[in-house]
Amino acid sequence: MASVGKLNAAKAALAEVKDGQVLGIGTGSTVAAFIELLGRKVKEESLEILCIPTSYQSAYLAAENGLSLTTLDEHPDPELAVDGADEIDGALNLIKGGGAALTKEKVVDSSAKRFVVIADCSKLVGMLGRFPLPLEVLPYARLKVMKAIREMGGEPKLRDGGDRKDGPLITDNGNFVVDAAFNRIEDPKGLEIKIKSVPGVVEVGLFVGMAHRAYIGNGQGAKILDRA
Ligand code: A5P
Repeated sequence: MASVGKLNAAKAALAEVKDGQVLGIGTGSTVAAFIELLGRKVKEESLEILCIPTSYQSAYLAAENGLSLTTLDEHPDPELAVDGADEIDGALNLIKGGGAALTKEKVVDSSAKRFVVIADCSKLVGMLGRFPLPLEVLPYARLKVMKAIREMGGEPKLRDGGDRKDGPLITDNGNFVVDAAFNRIEDPKGLEIKIKSVPGVVEVGLFVGMAHRAYIGNGQGAKILDRA
C-alpha cells in the first residue's frame, strides 16, 4: 500500500497520459499506485493506451489492471515514461534501482520522448548519494566490480535475496545487484561513466539529465518540478 505522498504523486502524473499513447511504466510502489489509477482511467474514459513494462512486477500488475502491454521492439519511441526514484536532486538527476529494475528502467525511460518521475517528498535531496547506488552486475564479475568500486572511494555490498531467498538477490535479467555507498556524489555523470566502464557492470542506477519533470507528492497534493 503506497503512502499518501506516493499516491498523490501518482494521481498528479495521470494528467500526462493522453489517448493513443505508448507509455513506458517503471517499477516500485509509487508506480504500482500509478498503474492501478491508470487502469481505472483507461477503463472509465475508454482510452487506447499501450504500456511497456520494466519488470515482471509492472507487467503483471498492468495486466491485472486491464492494461494492454507492448514491447520496445514494436514501439521503440514511447511518447511518455512514468517511473519512481530513490533519490532526486534539484536538477532532476536520479538514483534508481532500489527495486533492482534499473537496467530495463534506464532502457525504457531513455527511449521515451518525455520522462516523468513520481515520488514522495522524502526522495528529494540536496546532493545524490545518501542512498547506496545500485549497480546491476554479472555474477561472474561481482568481486572485480566490488574492488573497482572500493578504488573509487565507495563501499560496495552485494544485495541479499532477503527472507525468502538464500544468497544474493537475482534480478529479472538473471544478474546480481551491488549497492555502492558513496555518501556524496558530487559529479553524477562522471561517476556513471566511470562505473559503466568497469567490465561486468551491466547498468548503473544514476539517471542523469534524463527526467523532464517530477511530481513530488505530499500529504496535500503534488508539487511539480521541471528540469531547467
Ligand atoms: C526500481 O528498481 C526503482 O528504481 C524504483 O523506481 C525506486 O526504488 C522507487 O521505488 P518506490 O516507488 O517503491 O519508492
